[in-house]
Amino acid sequence: MASKDIAAAVEALRAGGLVALPTETVYGLGADAQSELAVRRIFAAKGRPSTHPLIVHVASAEAARAWVRDFPQAAQALAGAFWPGPLTLVLPRSPLASDAVTGAQDTVAVRVPNHPLALELLRAFGGGVAAPSANRFGRVSPTTAEHVRQEGLEGVAVVLDGGPCAVGVESTIVDLSTGAPRLLRPGGVSKEALERVLGQPVPPGPLGGVRAPGMLESHYAPRAGLLLVAPEALAGAAAARAASGQKVAVLSAAPLSLPEGAERVEIPAAPEAFAKELYATLRALDARGFEVVVAALPDEAGLGLAVRDRLTRAAGPRSNR
Ligand code: TXA
Ligand code: MG
Repeated sequence: MASKDIAAAVEALRAGGLVALPTETVYGLGADAQSELAVRRIFAAKGRPSTHPLIVHVASAEAARAWVRDFPQAAQALAGAFWPGPLTLVLPRSPLASDAVTGAQDTVAVRVPNHPLALELLRAFGGGVAAPSANRFGRVSPTTAEHVRQEGLEGVAVVLDGGPCAVGVESTIVDLSTGAPRLLRPGGVSKEALERVLGQPVPPGPLGGVRAPGMLESHYAPRAGLLLVAPEALAGAAAARAASGQKVAVLSAAPLSLPEGAERVEIPAAPEAFAKELYATLRALDARGFEVVVAALPDEAGLGLAVRDRLTRAAGPRSNR
C-alpha cells in the first residue's frame, strides 16, 4: 500500500469522513472516534441502530489508556499477551469516549488491531478510530477490500486494501468493567487462551447480550437460509431440501454422497482455517445463487467457539434484522 493511500485516509479521518480499513479479523468502517458527527456517519452508512456501541481502535496499549478510567491488572495482562491482536476489552470509559461511541453506556470497548496497514493508519492519525465491521447491519462481515466495495456503503472516502484478513472472524470481546471477566463475544482469541493468561474462568457475558448487538439472534447472515444439523445428518438434510427443489450447498470437510441438486462445498477441518474462510465462503455461496446452506457446528475448542457462534447467529430467526 502506497504511503499516499495512508495519507489520504488520515486526511479523510481528520475531515470527519469514513475510511474502510483492513484488520486481521475483518475490515472495519472507521471514523475519528472523537468526532460525534463522524461517528454518526458510521451508523448512517451501515443502517445500524445508534444505540449499538462501537470499538475504539488505537495503535498501542498506552493509547488505549486515554479512553478508559481504569486499566486494571487483568487488562494489562490481556493487553500484554494479545495486543496487537483480535481482542477487545470493555472498560469504564474516560471523558474522551462520547455517548455516540459507547451507546451512552458507562463503558468503552478498545482494541489494538494486528494489521500493518491498520497500525500505520492509527499511528499516522494519532487518535482513536471507531470502527464496526464494514458491512450493512446484520450481514456477513467483509474479509477483503472487494467485499467492502460490494457492500456499497455510502460516504466511504477511502478503502484501504490490505489483502484478505488472516483471522477471518471478529475479535473476542471481554468485559472487564464489572470485576469478574466476562466473554461478551467469542472471536479470534480463544477462550482457553484468555483463561490461561488470567488464571481464571471467563464465563459468557450477560445472557441475551443486549450490550453487544453482534449478539442479536440473527447477525452475520447470508441471503441463503442456513440450516444447522448434526454432522451425520448433513446428507439427509441436503437430500430433503434438494427434493423440494431448492439449490442446496453442504459445507463439509469430508466427502459425502449427495443427490442431484445438492453440492458439497469443501471446508477446512481445522477451526482456525475454517474461521478464516467462513465469511468469504458464505458470500461466494450467495453469489452462486444457493438457496440453502446445510452445515454442522464444529467442536468448541479454539476458534471453534467463534465459528459456532457466527454460524448459529447466521442461522437465527430473521424477523429482527
Ligand atoms: O474484529 C472486530 O472486532 C471488528 C474489527 C473491525 O475490529 N469490529 C467489529 O465491530 O466487529 P462491530 O461493531 O461489528 O462489533 C463490535 C461489538 C458489538 O457487538 C458491540 O455491541 C460491542 O462490540 N461493544 C462495543 N462497545 C461495547 C461496550 N461498551 N460494552 C459492550 N459491548 C460493546
Ligand atoms: Mg459487525
